[in-house]
Amino acid sequence: MNDLAGKHIVLGLTGGIACYKSAELCRAFVKEGATVQVVMTEAAEQFITPVTMQALSGRPVHTSQWDPREANNMPHINLSRQADAIVIAPCSADFMARLVHGRADELLSLMCLARPIATVPLLIAPAMNREMWAHPATQRNLVQLAADGATILGVGTGFQACGETGDGRMLEPQELLEDIVAFFQPKLLAGRKVVITAGPTFEALDPIRGITNHSSGKMGFAIARAAREAGAEVALVAGPVGVPTPRGVRRIDVKSARDMLAATEAETPRADIFIAAAAVADWRPVSEADHKIKKDGSGSAPTVAFTENPDILATVAKGARAKSGALFCVGFAAESHDLVKHAKAKRERKGIPLLVGNIGPLTFGQDDNQMLLVDDQGVTELPRASKIECARRLVAEIARRLTA
Ligand code: C5P
Repeated sequence: MNDLAGKHIVLGLTGGIACYKSAELCRAFVKEGATVQVVMTEAAEQFITPVTMQALSGRPVHTSQWDPREANNMPHINLSRQADAIVIAPCSADFMARLVHGRADELLSLMCLARPIATVPLLIAPAMNREMWAHPATQRNLVQLAADGATILGVGTGFQACGETGDGRMLEPQELLEDIVAFFQPKLLAGRKVVITAGPTFEALDPIRGITNHSSGKMGFAIARAAREAGAEVALVAGPVGVPTPRGVRRIDVKSARDMLAATEAETPRADIFIAAAAVADWRPVSEADHKIKKDGSGSAPTVAFTENPDILATVAKGARAKSGALFCVGFAAESHDLVKHAKAKRERKGIPLLVGNIGPLTFGQDDNQMLLVDDQGVTELPRASKIECARRLVAEIARRLTA
């Protein structure tokens, strides 16, 4: 995956202990295919050396506006004209104040001021002590920076280097990376609310055991990430899985199919799109034993009676039709053979506009997938790709159908 391929990022470091995280952020940008030009303030050099940042970015670091290496001696112009984005991480309280005032007496603030504001976005990852963060001056500066067109990447909460605990830590490099990758994605679902089910369900037999399946949740989680990247508000109803929640996604954990239905029905009335990616158990034990079912020594196995689970997708789609609502429902079909035939039949049976078919063993637990889209126009085969790329493609296909 090269989520930043072709992008040129100017990474600005200002004075703060979080500079140590910027080394990893720089590496992450490079790993995702970006070229990175590091610019450091004098204060940043107290925390990490330009040597480290040069080694990681593969380019000499700029630290001064008086730099004879630049033929025209205008690094503030040259550096900002080449950038797809300027990311200030960490951005100190002082540097925020400088940006607000349009100061230009050192290279980084000068370059931010000189950047073509319409084409070179400025993204800011603040980092400071919790009292500095909470101070009215800082909060006022944040509002002004956003009003001036900067994107504020937010802060983390927790233990701080000063020994205090609270808001103001710089986000972790992986969190910043995810937010910056999202920043570059087209906002195809801006203003839309999306509900997604993901993962398996767990149907309890007794307090210890139950029926479940091999769904990893990766596809549904990738769709949640892609929808959020596209600007949607996302609710992710997740069965028991160990996949991290995508940034900016609201996750609702459930266990059984009935829990999943209840959580989904609570979310869909305000939604524009429902994507059922969960592998819901078709059957559940008729009753859950209060205590662990023990061997009785007779050698005879217990008999378990099953009953059918509600079909979440069909129920939600039917409910939306009954209210002549505008909920766009998307289903998945994991088949082992005759994919096209089964996928077409399933779309009709569930009463939904779009169904995504895939071959179960080729997707369950894998990092990539191959999808087949079935709608009233026919069948479209998408190329095999990573799950996040498949998810972005699916989001684009849904957005296109919504605006058609
Ligand atoms: O009927 P089948 O399980 O093959 O259909 C798969 C599609 O229906 C998936 O989108 C799945 O999330 C959804 N589904 C559901 N509730 C069920 C069974 C399947 O929402 N009980």
